[in-house]
Amino acid sequence: MKEKIQRIKELVEENLRGASDLEALENIRIKFLGKKGELTAVLKGMGALPAEERPVIGAMANEVRAFLEREIDGKKEELSAKLREAKLKREVIDVTMPGRVQETGKLHPLTSVMNSVKDIFLGMGFQIADGPEVEYDYYNFEALNIPPDHPARDSQDTFYINDNVVLRSQTSPMQIRVMEKQKPPIRIIAPGMVYRSDAVDATHSPVFHQIEGLVVDKGITMADLKGTLEMFIKSLYGSETKVRFRPHHFQFTEPSAEVDVSCFVCGGEGCRVCKGEGWIEILGCGMVHPKVLSNCGIDPEEYSGFAFGLGLERIAMRKYDIDDLRLFYENDLRFLKQF
Ligand code: DAH
Repeated sequence: MKEKIQRIKELVEENLRGASDLEALENIRIKFLGKKGELTAVLKGMGALPAEERPVIGAMANEVRAFLEREIDGKKEELSAKLREAKLKREVIDVTMPGRVQETGKLHPLTSVMNSVKDIFLGMGFQIADGPEVEYDYYNFEALNIPPDHPARDSQDTFYINDNVVLRSQTSPMQIRVMEKQKPPIRIIAPGMVYRSDAVDATHSPVFHQIEGLVVDKGITMADLKGTLEMFIKSLYGSETKVRFRPHHFQFTEPSAEVDVSCFVCGGEGCRVCKGEGWIEILGCGMVHPKVLSNCGIDPEEYSGFAFGLGLERIAMRKYDIDDLRLFYENDLRFLKQF
C-alpha cells in the first residue's frame, strides 16, 4: 500500500513537470485527486486494511494528498502568471505611434455662401421665410402680375405638374405668400431651390438656388432699395466693390433694375470673366408693383416696398472665380476640398 501511494506521488510529480497549460493541470487533478481519482480510491480502500495499519497508511495518504494539492496550486499560480504576462505583452500600446487622422468634413461652397448671405441680411433685421417648391401657377405667375399667355412666362421655361401647379421657376412667389399672411412692416428673405427646363451647361442647370428679398412698409423708397443692396454687396464682396443699377423690366416691380458689380477679377478694366465689360450682373430688383400689393390685400396708397431676387450659384461663382456651374453639383472632392 505504501509503495502504491509513493508511486502515485511520483507519477503526479512527473505529470506536473510536463503540464503546459491550465487545462492539463486540471486533468491531472481530476485523474489523481478527483472523486474517482487514484489517490481517492486508495483512501476509500482503507477499510480493508488491518486496524493497526490504518492510522499509519491514512496519515501517509493525507500527507501525500496535501502535498500534491500544494504542488498543483503552485503550478497553477505559475502558469496563470505566465498567461497574464503574455496577455500584457500582446496588448501593449505604443503611445509614440502616430494616430489615425480623422478627416473632417467641410461645408459645400454653396452652403457657405448661402450662410454668408443669410448672416448679412439677418444683421440688417431681416427674417427668413420658407415655402413650397411645388407651387400654384397663381403664386408663381398670376399674383406677380404675369397673366396666362403673357410673354414674360416664356423667359422661364417652367416645369408644369398640371394646368395649375408648377415647380416654382423663381422664389418670387414667396413675396405673395408672405404678404398674404403678414401685414407690414415686412422685411424678409426667402432662400430656396427653383426649377427651369434648361439643358445643363457651364451656366445653366434645371435646378438652382435663388434668394428673394422683400421689404414693405410706409414710405419705402428706391433709396432704401439702393442702400440695402449696396450694403449687402459690399459686405459680401468687399467695401471697394462698385455697384451699378441699370434700368430693366420685371412684371412685378415698377420701376425695375438689374444690379451689376465691378468685376472682381479685373476691378472694372475689362477681362475674360466679365467679357470685357468691367461689370457683372448679379441680381434683379425693383419697387413692388402696386398691383402685386393689392393682390395681397395691401393698400398701395398707404404702403410701398422693394423686392430683389439673386441667384446663389452666380454669386458663388463670382466669389470663388468658378467658371463652370456643374462643378457645384458633381460632388468631386478634389473640387470641394478647395473651399
Ligand atoms: N424672379 C426674378 C427672376 O427669377 C428675379 C427678380 C427680379 C426677383 C426682380 C425680384 C425682383 O424680387 O424684384 O428672374
